[in-house]
Amino acid sequence: MISNKIESPNQSIMPISATINDQNHLCLGGIDSSKLIEEFGSPLWVMCEESIMQSAAAVKEGLSAYPNALPCYAGKAFLCLAMVKLIEQSGFGLDVVSDGELFTALQANFPTERIFFHGNNKSDKELAMALSSGVKIVVDSSSELEALISLAKSESKNSEILLRIIPGIELDTHDHIKTGHDTSKFGIPLSELDDVIAKILQQDRVKLIGLHAHIGSQAMDLGPYLESVDLFADLYQNIQKKFNLTLPHLDVGGGLGIAYTSGDKPLSMQNWARVVSERVKSSFASRDLPLPELSVEPGRAIVGSAGVTLYKSGHLKQLPGGKNYLAVDGGMADNPRPITYQAQYTAAVANRMKPENPGKSWSIVGRYCESGDIIVEEATLDVRNGDLIAIFATGAYNYSMSSNYNRTGRPACVLVKNGQAEVIIERETCADLVSHDRIASWLK
Ligand code: LLP
Repeated sequence: MISNKIESPNQSIMPISATINDQNHLCLGGIDSSKLIEEFGSPLWVMCEESIMQSAAAVKEGLSAYPNALPCYAGKAFLCLAMVKLIEQSGFGLDVVSDGELFTALQANFPTERIFFHGNNKSDKELAMALSSGVKIVVDSSSELEALISLAKSESKNSEILLRIIPGIELDTHDHIKTGHDTSKFGIPLSELDDVIAKILQQDRVKLIGLHAHIGSQAMDLGPYLESVDLFADLYQNIQKKFNLTLPHLDVGGGLGIAYTSGDKPLSMQNWARVVSERVKSSFASRDLPLPELSVEPGRAIVGSAGVTLYKSGHLKQLPGGKNYLAVDGGMADNPRPITYQAQYTAAVANRMKPENPGKSWSIVGRYCESGDIIVEEATLDVRNGDLIAIFATGAYNYSMSSNYNRTGRPACVLVKNGQAEVIIERETCADLVSHDRIASWLK
């Protein structure tokens, strides 16, 4: 293994199965990366099953001293049928946020009692789908609650729900991925909470089982989680006193960070889950509250470091002023995170892992028609035309946020494990791209 001592996969930039073989090539899941490209084409998303499963195991280990925990995976980070199967095998629950994610889970026969439907603007169609499949619904506003209650009545369905609250807690992360601050678009303001609960108690189709908050993403610090757990304990106590209602479930959200570069030092997943769950124990016990079933819902930390994107380097350009561009055959359409969040990544020449020459400083840029399509601002690489470039830690929010910009098809995604590699998402072809086009009758 290439990585240094780590406690959990999110602390390593590379997947845990990453090795270097005798030819000085990067291997993933026991397979030479150049063989992967030969067989499946370029660019390619590669997912390491071992990293995913060890991540899930690390969260479970952290929760092992908590009597009643249901760790969940936030599907928005990366979801497809094979991923649903892995999550089911891990014993986790699953968060979905759209009809598409729910459909994917149902298609893969994921147990519906372990599915939670999140989202700040679920359509009536999505609410109806959630009701008919019997998944738990995380209600985001009083207006959504009204819509759900009237739908549940008209369709004669019952539902267990959680309420997402705005905890008023700010995470130290990129502004676009903060979600717990006072002015967040997600959740119910605390000032409305009593009224919302009173409304729920006036009917019997929709049953409140707990509260939820997600304070943000790529968190490097435990402090905000502890603050939010204490707030939950206060709220559960108030709810018990005011409504004589003991909520049986608590969902403290996800957000644990991962290492994208050597400067990132995320907490281990065991530590994060252990400290958060211990705080739930102590905070609830000190208020004489019974321990709720506890959910955490990491997304990025489960899949982020499992993913590597392989590209072929194309034309190398050295400008007179000293700027060097290394262009690859993908970019912002398969990884919109640098242009969206100024996210930083780590690159390597996958067919020359140990450089033969000192190398030069390169900007690794994509093939898309936009100056901001830069995958890595500056990397010192010993690179030649036609080399294979690996970008690490691309498992989360790459495929799931990818696009067909410039009318390009998405890469294939392969799952690797112990020398086996299989496609879990097919490459999109040009024919796929036109398959949804229609020519208006007056143009024919
Ligand atoms: N639970 C809820 C309710 C969420 O909204 C999210 C993420 C998660 C769990 C999982 O968070 P994670 O453990 O993955 O940090 N596209 C952005 C990330 C957006 C996260 C949105 N919500 C990025 O690429 O950084």
